[in-house]
Amino acid sequence: MSIRNFSEDTLTAEVLRRMENTQDPRLKEVMTAFVKHLHAFVREVRPTQEEWFTGIQFLTETGHWCKDGRQEYILMSDTLGVSMLVDFINYGKTAGATESTVLGPFFVEGAPDLPLGANIARPGTPGEPLSVTGTVKGTDGKPVPGALLDVWETGGDGFYDVQKGEGTNLRARFTADADGKFHFKCVLPVSYPVPHDGPVGRMLTATGRHPMRPGHLHAILSAPGYDKLVTHLFVRGDKYLDSDAVFGVKDSLIVDFRKQPSGEYAAHYDFVIKRSGSK
Ligand code: BEZ
Ligand code: FE
Repeated sequence: MSIRNFSEDTLTAEVLRRMENTQDPRLKEVMTAFVKHLHAFVREVRPTQEEWFTGIQFLTETGHWCKDGRQEYILMSDTLGVSMLVDFINYGKTAGATESTVLGPFFVEGAPDLPLGANIARPGTPGEPLSVTGTVKGTDGKPVPGALLDVWETGGDGFYDVQKGEGTNLRARFTADADGKFHFKCVLPVSYPVPHDGPVGRMLTATGRHPMRPGHLHAILSAPGYDKLVTHLFVRGDKYLDSDAVFGVKDSLIVDFRKQPSGEYAAHYDFVIKRSGSK
């Protein structure tokens, strides 16, 4: 075959042929699929030169928006449903185990370790007081003593601490007690918009979408010998449960957040984690 004078019909095969010596088999598989799908996309869309450059500018701008506390590529992946697709593929469904959902861009490694019962909201944080209780269990129904629960949320104003730049707030790690139980205080989660003042926000507006997420509390559960579980608890009744901007809602994660006679809200959830290697 000629190695010049490619046409729309022959170019893809030649790009793939040139990558045939890729040593790493997984990289070869990924790059081959990437080129095939990218070329197919271009053939389908038939962009003008200006349109193609607009796409390149969009990706360039997305990179420029990334800094501490802002990851515009995660946001793009989340709002295009890709993060949830990766989650479906990797976490799978284990009978009886709590379902996973999107991590989002606001998790911070190394949140403070607080004693059970502590309030993760600093005094003066906006929001309604909430008490959360629950247990961490295995799929055999037995408690997982000492399981680690990493939680984070926005204040009642809909902002994470990292967005406000006011130091650590509304995030902590708790260690479940000898019966796998935990309890802590925080604020009632509220619905809030994903950051939409950048390129991803423009994409949402241009495609007729809103940026809102239903109120939720983030949690990561971990324990030796168990798979890490990344999940949320969603507020039952929230008006955005059916149109989450990042497609993260699962019925099994919707929880009652009930107002108590004391005025404080309360929520209870028993997390079920699965043993590493179990199906
Ligand atoms: C979040 O819930 O923190 C989140 C998830 C995806 C995109 C933006 C925010
Ligand atoms: Fe969130």
